[in-house]
Amino acid sequence: MRVKIIGSAAGGGFPQWNCNYRLSRAARRGMPGVRSRTQSSIAVSADGTDWVLFNASPDIRQQIAQAPELQPAADAPLRSTPIRAVVLTNADVDHVAGLLSLRERQPFAIYATAQVLATLEASSIFNVLDPAIVPRRLLAQTEEMAICGADGHPTGVVVGSFPVPGKVALYLEQRGDPAADFSSDTGDTIGVRIGGTGGRGAVFYIPGCSRIGAALRARLADAACLLFDGTVYTDDEMITARVGQKTGARMGHIAMSGEAGSIVGLADVKIGRRIFIHINNTNPVLDENSAEHAAVKAAGWEVASDGMEIEF
Ligand code: MLT
Ligand code: MN
Repeated sequence: MRVKIIGSAAGGGFPQWNCNYRLSRAARRGMPGVRSRTQSSIAVSADGTDWVLFNASPDIRQQIAQAPELQPAADAPLRSTPIRAVVLTNADVDHVAGLLSLRERQPFAIYATAQVLATLEASSIFNVLDPAIVPRRLLAQTEEMAICGADGHPTGVVVGSFPVPGKVALYLEQRGDPAADFSSDTGDTIGVRIGGTGGRGAVFYIPGCSRIGAALRARLADAACLLFDGTVYTDDEMITARVGQKTGARMGHIAMSGEAGSIVGLADVKIGRRIFIHINNTNPVLDENSAEHAAVKAAGWEVASDGMEIEF
């Protein structure tokens, strides 16, 4: 099984188009240790030929251009792709907007929860992917589901999926009610287990998660690798950076640091490799020479960058 991180940044990417914060500025001027990153997505293959994307980011065209394994093979038909399916972990813009770039009457399958399928259904722009050519399938919350191409042929990638605490997509929040609670743990946001039996030997992909509870900790025990929500280092980071008013929690993301953070929350869970992904442009770990980056490494975590590969 090959897992390739094709986009390691959170929504907006790094640097973000309109961001003038010190980290985006450092990335733009090519400061050593501050690498640019595209938006949240991974590619998985069981056989090295057929690929399944987990999330379709707005940067998908660039991500395919940077990954030869996701491009049409030299001996393939005039219109073709090795991408057989796209699995969605929520309906956020950074996870679904790339679907629009996969138009051109090219067969592949979309897998998502009932909530996310309903969101796609409600936006007629997604009809550029004709459901007769690009079937939309319910991602059952089961331990094992074989991901198949549009023709029903198994890709060899088998996933388990489960709801995690998060929230509905930003554009689904009702306007004008800042105090409203948009949190959800019923399938608006999910985590996926790729391969393995039970947790053992599996790779978990959880790019959005607002809380770590006992059930999640039990599920992750003995995982080979965890790719986990690394949006913010501290909960109030966007406020102290003066780029926004929202906390990580309000956006549906647990912080890395602090007593309620993910580093502490998962410290005593046995996991082979733990890697932060979906990293926001305010997160100081983006600077490899920062104290925060060193702290994360000292706690046994890696910080994902684009192109990183995991074989298991
Ligand atoms: C998130 O992860 O919180 C979203 O991607 C935010 C957004 O939609 O910009
Ligand atoms: Mn996101």
